[in-house]
Amino acid sequence: MRTRAQPPERPAQLAADCRVEVELGCADAEFSFQLAAARPDWLVAGVEIREPCLVRNRVRAQELGLGNLVFAYSNLNVDLDRVFAPRSVDRFHLLFPDPWFKERHHKRRVIEAGLVETIADQLRDGGELHVASDVFEVALEIMEVVEASPRLRNMIEAWSFWRGNPFEAASRREQTTLARGQRVWRMRYALVGPSVTAPLA
Ligand SMILES: C[S@@+](CC[C@H](N)C(=O)[O-])C[C@H]1O[C@@H](n2cnc3c(N)ncnc32)[C@H](O)[C@@H]1O
Repeated sequence: MRTRAQPPERPAQLAADCRVEVELGCADAEFSFQLAAARPDWLVAGVEIREPCLVRNRVRAQELGLGNLVFAYSNLNVDLDRVFAPRSVDRFHLLFPDPWFKERHHKRRVIEAGLVETIADQLRDGGELHVASDVFEVALEIMEVVEASPRLRNMIEAWSFWRGNPFEAASRREQTTLARGQRVWRMRYALVGPSVTAPLA
C-alpha cells in the first residue's frame, strides 16, 4: 500500500555521505531554516504531519535558495520508518513535541517506545537524539521513555537535563519560551554501540 510518507528527495549538490540532521514535528521549521542556512553542506530535513506546513516550508526554502533543506510528511507514530533508511541520520531534533495535558493518559504522547526504537535504528554510529520541552512534566515523561531504552545514553548522566542551547538554531517555540522568561528542558542522548544489530556471519 502506498502511503504519503516517502523519503525526501535528496539534493544532487550534496555529497553522498554528507551529515544529515532531521527536525521531527517541525511546524514552521524555524530551527531547520536556521540550521540549513548555517550549514550549507549538511542535508537538513523537516518532518511534519500537517501537509499545509510542508507546502509553506518548501516554498520558503525555495525563495531563500536553501537547496540543502527538504521536507517530508510523516505521522511519527506510524510511518517514520518509510522516510529514512536505517543508519542514515546523524541527529534527530524533537523540539517541543507535545502540549501540556494535566491528565497523563488524556492524550497519547508523540514519544513512545516504538518511536525511540525507530530513531535508534535510523541513527548512524555516533548519532544523537536531541529533545526539548517547555513543560517540566512533559520533559520528565519523555525522559522516562528514552532512559528506558538501552540503545540511547544520556550525554550528561542518567536523568539529567542539558543546560543552554549548544546548536546554531532555535525553534519558534524555543524563542517564545525564552522571551517569556521560561526555561527550556533539554535532553541529549547518544546512540549506544552500532546502530543496528549486525547480521550473524
Ligand atoms: C508544538 S509544535 C512544535 C513545533 C516546532 N518543533 C517548534 O519547536 O517550534 C509540535 C509539532 O509537532 C507536530 N506533530 C504532532 N504530532 C505529530 C505526529 N504524530 N507526527 C508528526 N508531527 C506531529 C504538530 O503538527 C506540530 O507542528
